[in-house]
Amino acid sequence: MLIVIPAVLDADALHTCRAALHTADWTDGKATAGSQSASVKVNQQLPELSPVAQQLGNLILKKLGAHPLFLSAALPKSIYPPLFNRYRGGEHFGVHVDNAIRPITGTTQLIRTDLSATLFLMEPDSYEGGELVIESQFGSQEVKLNAGDMVLYSASSLHQVNAVTHGERLAAFFWLQSLIRDDGVRQLLFDLDQSIQQLTQEVGQQHPEVVRLTGVYHNLMRRYAEL
Ligand code: NI
Repeated sequence: MLIVIPAVLDADALHTCRAALHTADWTDGKATAGSQSASVKVNQQLPELSPVAQQLGNLILKKLGAHPLFLSAALPKSIYPPLFNRYRGGEHFGVHVDNAIRPITGTTQLIRTDLSATLFLMEPDSYEGGELVIESQFGSQEVKLNAGDMVLYSASSLHQVNAVTHGERLAAFFWLQSLIRDDGVRQLLFDLDQSIQQLTQEVGQQHPEVVRLTGVYHNLMRRYAEL
């Protein structure tokens, strides 16, 4: 699964994020990395429990909770509180895979990382490099999105962030555990849901086939969802 979720943040929210991040205290990004990824990670991060990270993280979670495309694609069960990173002056993150299980800092909760997300906070022409390169079954894909847009991808994918050679790349990133663990099943449910939404617009909610397909969707959820 690799899906771009457009317009997670509007101009106001982006302004709030950038203003807070520009005056924040940053630390070495190795803090949240596993041992393999720490050896290839050269960037900076906000401390997880810092008030700025928590305040901006909550803002992002609120926007995501009201974003139908995100909810349809991710079917989130638990979302890791968003983290924030910064790359500049040649900083980069070499190829790695994200840890499968993460304790949520400050709690006893563990989440299985089914999906990874990166929300771009700077306009792509304001910095050079910084592409997120994701290995997929169709080869590697370079992702560098408009500010406010987010990529959602399988956390099982190998990925890296190219060096930022000019300017500054600010992003939020997080993981989530989905109600649907299997990537292929989740993708099918997403495709089915998108088709139902489209069909509903064309023929109306009460059309018998829309009603039947909606039933199929919920019965598949009932069969595959893990609560
Ligand atoms: Ni990663």
